[in-house]
Order: sequence, then C-alpha cells, then structure tokens
Amino acid sequence: MKIPSILIVDDEEATIFGYSRYLSKENYTVETAKCLSDAKDKVNINSFDLLLLDLKLPDGNSIDWIQTLHTTHPNTSIIVITGISDIPTAVKAIKYGASNFLTKPITMNDLTHTIKKSLEVKELRKRDFFYQRLTNQKSDPYFGESNTIKTVLQYADVAAANNTVVLLLGETGTGKGVLARWIHDQSARKNESFVEVNCSSLKGELLRSELFGHVKGAFTSAIKDRAGLLEVVDGGTLFLDEIGDMDLEVQAQLLKTIEEKSYRRIGENKLRFSDFRLICATNRNLSEASDDGRFRKDLFYRICIFPITLPSLKERNSDLQGMVEHILKCYGYTKFPIAPSVISLLQEYTWPGNIRELRNMLERALLLSQDEELTAAHFPGLKTVEYIEETPKVVWNLEELEYSHIQKALTHFNGDKYETSSALGISLSSLYRKLEKIQNETS
Ligand SMILES: Nc1ncnc2c1ncn2[C@@H]1O[C@H](COP(=O)(O)OP(=O)(O)OP(=O)(O)O)[C@@H](O)[C@H]1O
Ligand SMILES: [Mg+2]
Repeated sequence: MKIPSILIVDDEEATIFGYSRYLSKENYTVETAKCLSDAKDKVNINSFDLLLLDLKLPDGNSIDWIQTLHTTHPNTSIIVITGISDIPTAVKAIKYGASNFLTKPITMNDLTHTIKKSLEVKELRKRDFFYQRLTNQKSDPYFGESNTIKTVLQYADVAAANNTVVLLLGETGTGKGVLARWIHDQSARKNESFVEVNCSSLKGELLRSELFGHVKGAFTSAIKDRAGLLEVVDGGTLFLDEIGDMDLEVQAQLLKTIEEKSYRRIGENKLRFSDFRLICATNRNLSEASDDGRFRKDLFYRICIFPITLPSLKERNSDLQGMVEHILKCYGYTKFPIAPSVISLLQEYTWPGNIRELRNMLERALLLSQDEELTAAHFPGLKTVEYIEETPKVVWNLEELEYSHIQKALTHFNGDKYETSSALGISLSSLYRKLEKIQNETS
C-alpha cells in the first residue's frame, strides 16, 4: 500500500519540527511549508493525501484557500489547526470542505488519531460505491415536532401563501437555505424558477452585474451584453443568501429595485421590469449592522417585514433523534442500528455548525462503520469538542474569565469580530490584541 503523504503547513519552526519528526516515525511521508504561498506551490507540484493546515499564517489566513483546495484537490483531506478561541472559524473551515479540526494544544495522540480517521474516510470515499449513495440522494426536508420548529413552520406556511418579502435568520447550518427553497416549493410560484445568489461570495461590480446584467463595454471585462438574474427570475423567487454581506452600493440599488420592481442593466438606460418574490437570509445581526452603518437602515426595514428565525439544533434537542433518522433515511437506511449511547452523546453536544454539522458527522460515521451498528467510536469529532466545551472548575482568575467571556461572545456572534467587539464594548483593535495574546498563550 502507498505510504500516505502529509503536508504540514505551519509558521512555527518548533511545531513543524515536532510534527514532522513524530509523523515520519509513524511512517508517513512528510513535507512542510511555512507560509501560504509556499504551501500553494507545493500542492501544485505534489499530490498530498492530507494537509495539516494552520489557519493563521504570515502571509494570510488559509480559510479561503480551503474552499478552492477542496474543489481543485478533492482527494486531499484537510485538517485545520486553530486556537481554542477560534471555533467559529474552524466550523467555517468544515463548511468549506475541511474534514476535521484540532484545537491547540494538540497531543500527538489526538494528531495521529485524527489523521488516521481522515485518511480512512478518504479511502472509503474513493473506493466505495456507498459514497455514491450518499451524494445522490435527494429528499424533502425534515422539520420535527418541537414547539419551536412548529412555530417556525406556521410562519413559513403564511409566507408561502403570499408574496411578502421574507427574511430568514439563524445561525449557520440551521437550514435557512433549505427553508427558502421549501417556501418557494409551497408557493404559487413553485413551477417558476428559484434563483439563489450568495451575496458574500460575489462582491461589488460582480454582484451588481450578476443581479442586474450589463451591456457590452459597461466595464473592462464586459465583452458582450449579458442578462442579469433579475431577468431570469421573472415570475419566480429570488433568494438572496448572506444579504448582510452585501456591499452598501449594491444595497442602494437593490432597495430601488425591490420598491419599483424595475432595474437597469449596467451601462444601459432602458428600464426593465421583473416580477419576483424576494427571500433573504443572513446569520448576521442586521439590526446592529444597520445601527453601525454597515447595512442600510431603509433596506433593513424593507426586507424585515416578515422575519423568521430558525432555532439552533441545540434549542430543539427533541428533534435531534428524528433528524438523525431522517438523514440516515436520505442515505438509504430506513432502520439503521444506532447504539443508545450515541443518541445521548449527540444530545449532549452543542452543535455550533447545527444541521450541516450533524449531517457531515453522520456521513463520516456511516463511512467508518461500514454497515455495522453506529457506536461512539464512529464519532471521533465529538470528543474534540466535548473537551473544548468542558468548564471543569470555577474560574477566579480575571484574565481567564475575560478569555472565556470573549470566547463565548465570539461563538454567539458567529466569529464576527466587529459585532463581538461592539457587544463587548471594546474597540476592534483591542479585541484583536486580546485574541493575539490568548493565541500566544495557548500555542
Ligand atoms: N430541515 C432540514 N431537513 C434536512 N436537512 C436539513 C434541514 N435543514 C438543513 N439541513 C441540512 O443542513 C445543511 C445546511 O442547511 P442550509 O444550507 O440550509 O443552512 P443555512 O442556515 O443556510 O447555513 P449558512 O448560514 O451556513 O448558509 C443542508 O445542506 C442540509 O443538508
Ligand atoms: Mg445558507
């Protein structure tokens, strides 16, 4: 069997030295890179089985690279290494395609265990037709029986029955995208198009052009006339995801379009009309963002007519078992054996990545279990986070208290440092200083 190759990307000499010595002894082929550009070069030359990736590197944060890497090198597993204060970013990394994350300080045992599991999953994915079953299944969403979700569904029913602008709120992975689609599918527009635009991945001119279209010569890269999505969505539903990340300039234009149902392609005078139903979603606090001037107040009032907040998975613990069964059913298993201890383990966990994280964890567990009963051993990720969540004793030390408070605030605001700093009543730069200090102390 081929010896697995690992690229360690970290800027700390001592860490690199320690890891590579240990992993070489464990019979892995090891290469190292000290910065992002070095890592990118190495990945382009060699194909690695696994990347051990520190997020904070001297020439940038590697979080955005994960998304690209996941597409260009789907056979490379990525394990992200973060400081304990940066769980939200680790969750984002998983969303972007990392297979697991480890928080500092890392024991060599944790390291080898996680590497072994990630490589196992990768192998299974490569050779197993079972994976096809995982990826090809499509099914209706599952909502559950908890009172919280029932209330959400009552609102969603009302939203589906009329044309009002809907704003979906809630933490990452709670199902805003899924609910937007569901509302469209229940509405009178269900046979028309459902067009989804992610406002955080497209910025400025690009987003404007995507939405409104452009005429040839409107800007340098506009080599021919192009219709915008507003034209495509005429008669259907426009879903603006992550609207809290939309540039202020585009926000101004969008407001006008919502009010008048009309727009102009970039570089053209002709007024065009589009009859679309608007659903927006965000996991940001738009009200605070509008107070701070990061989101237009008038647009906020315009889209906040019918807000629906999706509960976190933790807030609807009673739906968890049903959700697990539903996800397993989607993967083709109607009655899959699960050890009772697994359900209580899942119920104790906090699920920062909500339903997405649950689905990913179950997918991994199914691959690892190979059709055997699911046991705690098939959920290696849970232990890592349990360790993080532990608060073993009363903390008297003021610095430690401040540290855990900052950590809680960061988790609450989904890692948004701007919102966290204003909630804490400190400046953004002093939040960064404190985080830096914590990182240095914990690494
Ligand atoms: N009601 C549901 N039934 C089944 N699966 C669900 C449901 N809601 C969410 N999921 C699963 O969780 C994943 C994440 O959901 P979705 O993308 O809608 O979350 P989100 O709230 O939009 O997250 P983000 O803010 O990160 O975009 C989906 O791909 C789906 O697999
Ligand atoms: Mg979404």
